[in-house]
Amino acid sequence: MTDPLADIYKQIGSEQPFVRLVDAFYTGVETDELLRPMYPDDLTDARKHLFQFLVQRTGGPTTYSDNRGHPRMRGRHLPFRIGLLERNAWMHHMENALEATPEFGPHKAVMHAFFDDFSMFMINQPS
Ligand code: HEM
Repeated sequence: MTDPLADIYKQIGSEQPFVRLVDAFYTGVETDELLRPMYPDDLTDARKHLFQFLVQRTGGPTTYSDNRGHPRMRGRHLPFRIGLLERNAWMHHMENALEATPEFGPHKAVMHAFFDDFSMFMINQPS
């Protein structure tokens, strides 16, 4: 089956919307009482990693894996307590970020489905 995300980076045509998507997402996280304490004080690297991961996942340059190796996202999230509440909070900020970044409009359904599934997969604790 074809990967529905594989062509999105090319169709969007620049990394700027990805920068803005990640900025909008972390603007939400910054004010979230549940999620904010999970992240380091300085969000610079968290922003950079999410940005590079999303660019790579949507068919763009593979800078993420060139620097960080195989994504193995579930393993990287194991140190954090992620139950349904944390997952729903994460998803809420990503939904807002998608809404706030019009370049993703044509890809919103596909991106939403990806984030919806992938964030459920990150759950590693009962709620
Ligand atoms: C389900 C709720 C989620 C929570 C609570 C969560 C939380 C976190 C936290 C606390 C970090 C560490 C940040 C740092 O130390 O700089 C992180 C890293 C990361 N997260 Fe999530 N995350 C979630 C779901 C997701 C999803 C669905 C994706 C992708 C679509 C994602 C992508 C990433 C990436 C790319 C990193 C950086 C990994 C690395 O290279 O070190 N996360 N996440």
